[in-house]
Amino acid sequence: MFGRDQPIASRALTEEFRERLVQFRRQLHRRPELSLEEHETTKRIREALQSINANIVETDLETGVCALVSGRKPGPCIAIRADIDALPIVEETALPFASEVPNKMHACGHDFHTAAVLGALMLAMDVAASLESFPGSILFLFQPAEEIGQGASLVLQDGVLQRYGVQAILGEHNQPTLPTGVIGVREGPLMASVDEFSIVVKGIGGHAAIPDRTVDPILVASHIVAGLQHLVSRVVSPIGSVVVTVGSFHAGTANNIIPPQAVLEGTVRCLQPEYRDVAEDHLRSFVTQTAQAFRAHAEINYKRVLPAVVNDGELCELVRGVAGEVVGADNVVEAAPTMAGEDFSLYQEVLPGCFFFVGTGKPDGSSRAWHHPQFDVDESMLIKAASVFVRASVTWLHAHAPIAHEGD
Ligand code: NI
Repeated sequence: MFGRDQPIASRALTEEFRERLVQFRRQLHRRPELSLEEHETTKRIREALQSINANIVETDLETGVCALVSGRKPGPCIAIRADIDALPIVEETALPFASEVPNKMHACGHDFHTAAVLGALMLAMDVAASLESFPGSILFLFQPAEEIGQGASLVLQDGVLQRYGVQAILGEHNQPTLPTGVIGVREGPLMASVDEFSIVVKGIGGHAAIPDRTVDPILVASHIVAGLQHLVSRVVSPIGSVVVTVGSFHAGTANNIIPPQAVLEGTVRCLQPEYRDVAEDHLRSFVTQTAQAFRAHAEINYKRVLPAVVNDGELCELVRGVAGEVVGADNVVEAAPTMAGEDFSLYQEVLPGCFFFVGTGKPDGSSRAWHHPQFDVDESMLIKAASVFVRASVTWLHAHAPIAHEGD
C-alpha cells in the first residue's frame, strides 16, 4: 500500500503537472474529431506518451492507443479506459480554446477523459519507478468511437485485454450535474442499456376523403406511439427505469392523400438489465397486435446496441475509498443513475468494472448538459480524476497480487 505523501501525491500537487494536463486537454479541445476519425488525436496522444517514454502497446486499432505501465514485481493487470472522440456539434462556448473545426466539438468532455487518463499514466509511471512501486501492471486504453458505441467492441476484438491478462477495468465520465470537487460512485446499474428500433407500418393508401377504402398507417402508427408508453407506465415496475422514445415519425406527402405506410424510429433504454428482454418482447407484441387490430401490418427491426453499465461492488468500494482520500470523504456521493448509454458496459460484460462520475459542474447547477453546444468542464478535476484512477489501480494490484514468500 502507499501513503498520501508518496509519489502519486507529490507530482499531483505540482503546478507544472496541472498545467500540462490542462494544456493537453485544450489542445484536444481545439481539434475535435468524430468517431473512427480520431487520427490527429491518436497522433497527439502517441506523441505525449513518447515524450514521457511510456510503453506504447501495439494493437490493430486504426485510431486509439494503448500503453502499459508495469510495476517492479509480477502480478495481475488492471485497465484504465478513456474515450477520445468528439461530436458533430457547432461549439458555442466562446472559450479561447474553442473548437477550430467547423461542426465538431468535444461536447461530451472526452478531451477531459483523455487528459485525465494521461495524467493517471504519468502518476503510475512515477509510482512504478519508485521503491514503493506495485506488483503487476496497468493497461491504459485511449479508446476511439465511444459516441457511436463501436470503440469498446473494437478494443475487445483486438484482444489486447486478453494479451495482457486484464482482470478488472476502471473508467470515468465527467458529470456536469455534480459540482466540481465531488465524485459520484454507484454499485450496480449506473447507465442504461441502449436499443434501437424502426417500425414500418403498412396500410393501404387512398383518398383522404374516402378513408373507408384505406387502412390509414398514420392513424395506426399514432396509436402505436401513444400505446408504447404503456410499457413504461404499466408493464415495468414504477421502481424500475425504462425509457421508450419515438424520435422520428415519417409518413405522407399531401393533405388529401392517405399514404400506404408510416415509418417510426426510436430507442429503448433500460437501467436494470432484467427489463431489457421485457421491453423488447412487449414492444414486439404490442406493435404487431396493434397493427393487426387496425387491419394493418407492422415490420419491426429491433437492434440491441449496448448493455447497461453495471458496476462491481468490490471495485466501487475501492474507488469510493480512494476518492475519499483525493477529494475528502464528504465529497464522495452516491452517483445518480442516468438513462444515457456508454460502451464501457461492453468491457463489464467480460470483466468486473467500475465507471464513476467526476463532478465538473458549477456549484449553482447552471452547467450545460452533455452534448450541449455550450458544454464545458472544470479542469481542476483533471488531477483529481487522475489521482483516483492511479490510487484505485495501485491499491487493487496490491490486493490482488500473489502473496509473496519470505525472501522474495
Ligand atoms: Ni461521453
